[in-house]
Amino acid sequence: MREERFVAKLSVVRGDITQRSVDAIVNAANSSLLGGGGVDGAIHRAAGPDLLAACQTLNGCPTGSAKATAGFKLPAKWVFHAVGPVWNGGHSGEPEKLAGCYRACFALAQEHGVTSIAFPAISTGIYHFPKGPAAEIAVRESQALAEAAGVERVEFVCFDEATAMVYERVLGEA
Ligand code: APR
Repeated sequence: MREERFVAKLSVVRGDITQRSVDAIVNAANSSLLGGGGVDGAIHRAAGPDLLAACQTLNGCPTGSAKATAGFKLPAKWVFHAVGPVWNGGHSGEPEKLAGCYRACFALAQEHGVTSIAFPAISTGIYHFPKGPAAEIAVRESQALAEAAGVERVEFVCFDEATAMVYERVLGEA
């Protein structure tokens, strides 16, 4: 049987990732996976305490990778907890580690049959990764991996206008 091919749709969305009705939302977590501020805090608040309990069974996650939990009270069925790099000037492997987060999330998407996923701007807040280079990595990895992973819809959910404009510029140039 001819396998149905599709073109993955990548889009920029302004708003709160906890409200996205997609199969999986990605959390910008830290290596403990025990919660934090920023989008990590928002996701834990929205998902409820069962999310922390699930994370406590995961024994953390190395930078540049991601682990999956259920979404609990979130609209999303899954949360992929990605641990981005702290920006340290760009010569300590930060770009490769950030790319690793996206690769790990698409691997988890394929493993769990996820066809729609929403990413925050991983590492660009408290971890100070420059927005432009981070968006370029996000778009490049998503374009390279989404279709092979079976992901039909990728949302880049931006919480502020400045980030949204960067992602729109990068996606427009891609
Ligand atoms: N929805 C979507 N994006 C959000 C939301 C939200 N509800 N809240 C914040 N953001 C955005 C930020 O504005 C930023 O653009 O997510 C992006 C990532 O910022 P951070 O949440 O600060 O994440 P990061 O820079 O990866 O730092 C991770 O912060 O919260 C702690 O535990 C976390 O130690 C880890 C570190």
